[in-house]
Amino acid sequence: MAESTKNATLQLDGKSFDLPIYSPTVGPDVLDIRKLYADAGVFTYDPGFTSTAACDSTITFIDGDKGELLHRGYPIDQLAEKSHYLEVCYLLLYGELPSASELEDFESRVTNHTMLHEQMQYFFRGFRRDAHPMAIMVGVVGAMSAFYHDSTDITDPWQREVASIRLIAKMPTIAAWAYKYHTGQPFVYPRNDLDYASNFLRMCFSVPAEEYEVNPILARAMDRIFTLHADHEQNASTSTVRLASSSGANPFACIAAGIACLWGPAHGGANQACLEMLREIGSPNRIPEFIERAKDKNDPFRLMGFGHRVYKNFDPRAKVMKQSADEVLDLLGVENNPTLQVAKELEAAALADPYFTEKKLFPNVDFYSGIILEAMGFPTSMFTPIFALSRTVGWVSQWKEMIGDPQNKIGRPRQLYLGETLRDYVDIEKR
Ligand code: CMC
Repeated sequence: MAESTKNATLQLDGKSFDLPIYSPTVGPDVLDIRKLYADAGVFTYDPGFTSTAACDSTITFIDGDKGELLHRGYPIDQLAEKSHYLEVCYLLLYGELPSASELEDFESRVTNHTMLHEQMQYFFRGFRRDAHPMAIMVGVVGAMSAFYHDSTDITDPWQREVASIRLIAKMPTIAAWAYKYHTGQPFVYPRNDLDYASNFLRMCFSVPAEEYEVNPILARAMDRIFTLHADHEQNASTSTVRLASSSGANPFACIAAGIACLWGPAHGGANQACLEMLREIGSPNRIPEFIERAKDKNDPFRLMGFGHRVYKNFDPRAKVMKQSADEVLDLLGVENNPTLQVAKELEAAALADPYFTEKKLFPNVDFYSGIILEAMGFPTSMFTPIFALSRTVGWVSQWKEMIGDPQNKIGRPRQLYLGETLRDYVDIEKR
């Protein structure tokens, strides 16, 4: 925990209260209000946590004004260009970039946990075939606590480590099997001679009748998508994982809670919603109509893949994603992709409109990711599961950090109660 360097003073009802202020290594100062209720008898009010730090952390830092994202200090664009997903997983989990032997050991630990308990197949088979893959993932990941009892004791560091590796290793298998089940094809088992991204692509696209040749360029693009989504500090799903875990719940239950939260269209579900929106727009001449709808306060429509709670500048992940979309479509020989064309013109039209610039609404990570995933052959329903599998390492790293924090206590927000005051029960015949 940081040391307080200065205080703020709160004047209330003629009394003054000192509130310690902590200075982070980078970013705005943080006011400590933990003793406020005990000392001054008031709560703070902050729906949506727009000004509230719920924890301290050393994992990820975002400068929303600059459009900067750092993992353990390393900028995301450097990691996306020079590193790869499992190395970034190691960095997020353990705090430093691995040496060659540390990376080899980590990759081998992950690779050796990619298979699912065979009985889990039957669990998958309990779902309707038309279930959304995210619905299957929420259920199956939660059910891991019923299949892996030996890594649910959160007080045991070894079990926490095994649970972390299991989650990172098995999530591609779970996501791929959710897809296979959804499409009615047989499950494809992981292959340990393939790298993380190639193995996932093969489990999704291989069928018994025909072996799937993994295109290394697509595998690299897939790996980059995983890397760009790996962590994003205290976003809604990560905070959900932390809150669920604050009660002492087991890691699989907590990550299932994170997956459930991620599914919403304001969060991870935006990638599916964005591609559906781009398809609905269909051609550049309809862009003005959709821009007008997004600006209309009486229309619930929003430009999906646009805007962010923290970024008030370009989302640095969107920049890499846009470049990657161009590269992937080029490599696949897709010329004049109409969806990419609509996306680029929509971005340009929005950024030329004062509504978006004044509100600092820029493309986020979800704006271009769907175009790449679609070009790779994924249906829109798989976009959010791919986000979930990529974000698993972020959730797990934040969960591990929280469990190891001596200040960890159950999360329990307070409220501004505006309901009825005490009143007597009225018998039904008198109402
Ligand atoms: N289109 C049109 N107007 C928007 C949009 C948008 N995409 N986003 C925000 N606004 C407006 C909003 O109407 C509000 O206007 P006013 O001040 O006049 O009421 C203002 O901008 C601020 O919006 P907010 O909803 O108060 O901002 P927030 O920080 O609570 O919401 C957000 C952030 C990401 C939920 C929101 O921008 C949004 O709904 N975007 C579309 C969904 C999306 O792309 N989500 C993915 C986020 S990045 C990936 C991830 O982390 O999951």
